[in-house]
Amino acid sequence: MATVRYGGHYNQPNLNQMKMQITTTNVNIDSRNRPNNIRELMCCSLSADFCEVLERARKIAAGMGYKLYVAGGVVRDLLLGIECLDIDLVVEGDGIELAQALSKEYNGRLRLHPKFGTAKVVFPNGVQVDVATARVEFYQYPAAMPQVETSSLQQDLYRRDFSINAMAVSLNEGSFGDVVDFFGGRADLERGMVRVLHNLSFIEDPIRILRALRFEKRFHMNLEAQTLKLVQEAANIKMLSRVPNERIWEELKHIFREPRPGEVLVRLIDLNLWDCLFPGVVPKQVRQVLTQVSHSVKLLRSWNLLEPLEGWLVYFLAVLHDTDWTNAGEICRRYNLSKRYTIRVAAALGNWRRLVNNLQEPLAITCSELARQVMLLPREAYPLVLCYLNDSASRRRFRKVLSSISCNKPLIKGEELRKLGYKPGPLYKKVLNGLWQARLDGDLRTKQEELSYVQEYLTKYEGR
Ligand code: CTP
Repeated sequence: MATVRYGGHYNQPNLNQMKMQITTTNVNIDSRNRPNNIRELMCCSLSADFCEVLERARKIAAGMGYKLYVAGGVVRDLLLGIECLDIDLVVEGDGIELAQALSKEYNGRLRLHPKFGTAKVVFPNGVQVDVATARVEFYQYPAAMPQVETSSLQQDLYRRDFSINAMAVSLNEGSFGDVVDFFGGRADLERGMVRVLHNLSFIEDPIRILRALRFEKRFHMNLEAQTLKLVQEAANIKMLSRVPNERIWEELKHIFREPRPGEVLVRLIDLNLWDCLFPGVVPKQVRQVLTQVSHSVKLLRSWNLLEPLEGWLVYFLAVLHDTDWTNAGEICRRYNLSKRYTIRVAAALGNWRRLVNNLQEPLAITCSELARQVMLLPREAYPLVLCYLNDSASRRRFRKVLSSISCNKPLIKGEELRKLGYKPGPLYKKVLNGLWQARLDGDLRTKQEELSYVQEYLTKYEGR
């Protein structure tokens, strides 16, 4: 690939010439009515542990003569009234030095990344804080790892992905709690817009395309008009194919764990981004399932028949379910899925369709056979199966089979067989399996009936 220079760190004017700021338009929101100081909001929204850490960090930074801010997603979440689990601090000064002092005072664990001027402090009570030196990032070519240089807060915020993520709150004497919003992030939050700060944002870091759609759906927002155009342009030139697969997978897992992953994935199909992520997977059938799968998850949860569950795998299976194994296996390899998960994907893809067919044609098949087929599937494929059951009778049947598996277990266990004088061995498995099947099919109901079944079975076996 030819090296395209978007400006080196020694050639900053060049970078600025190429970047065109995308500004807020048509904002009708009256900003005079909202306070610019959110000190009280911070005190109510953040946990006491976080507030204490912020207070200490503020004092240490002041002692060092540095300016300190909370920045990024936490400010967005504070303004939206959403619980904040991570705190990012930005220091106009030496972030590493501040993190070291903070961890020393609190006996915290410290992880340093001197190359990026960042550090993570984990306190004994579990609170985690990321501390970063205010920085600018320079991209040598599209989708490259950025080079980093220290800067002011404003430049640090300008390097970020979207206006809603490019706000800060001051922790400094005299301005504590003031929102710092150079790029209209607060107005965008209020009007529900995801907006990039400049026209090269998706070129520099194409992973932001996925982030944009993730935030759009998470917060029920829309892509701002020009941002949408930039996404479409980046899709046309397949910018996402330039991103290493590990980064894509990391972001896909974030998407699978969102509250409504199906909506994000459908949006990826609509914006022609699908092919770069799941080559060879025909989206037509998948689209339908993606719109229904979260409803199926909810229904199974309401039946208490889904947990424990690895949520991300539900959506990965929904994506791959209509693809042949050659292609699906290729995608598992592409994203370096572990052997354990690859086996689960293969089991789901190989068995879901037959189960759906059999649930829809009940007369020909016993409950124990349906249960056997269910048990060939990983639990994460249950929502997929439910998406394909269109009539209420087959849904009821599926529910009955699932609850039989979890509740209708035989009363006699291996221990009982030992008491009857039979030595543990392959026979145990056979008889217990037979017992389980007979119980599922309603042939046995009481412990006495089970005992008779076992004795009859074992006598027959011994006789043979
Ligand atoms: N960021 C960015 N470009 C990226 C990733 C992150 O500009 N590709 C910036 C954003 O300002 C973001 C901050 O780094 O707010 C922290 O990133 P991260 O923790 O990944 O995102 P959050 O915004 O906190 O989102 P989430 O709530 O999903 O954790």
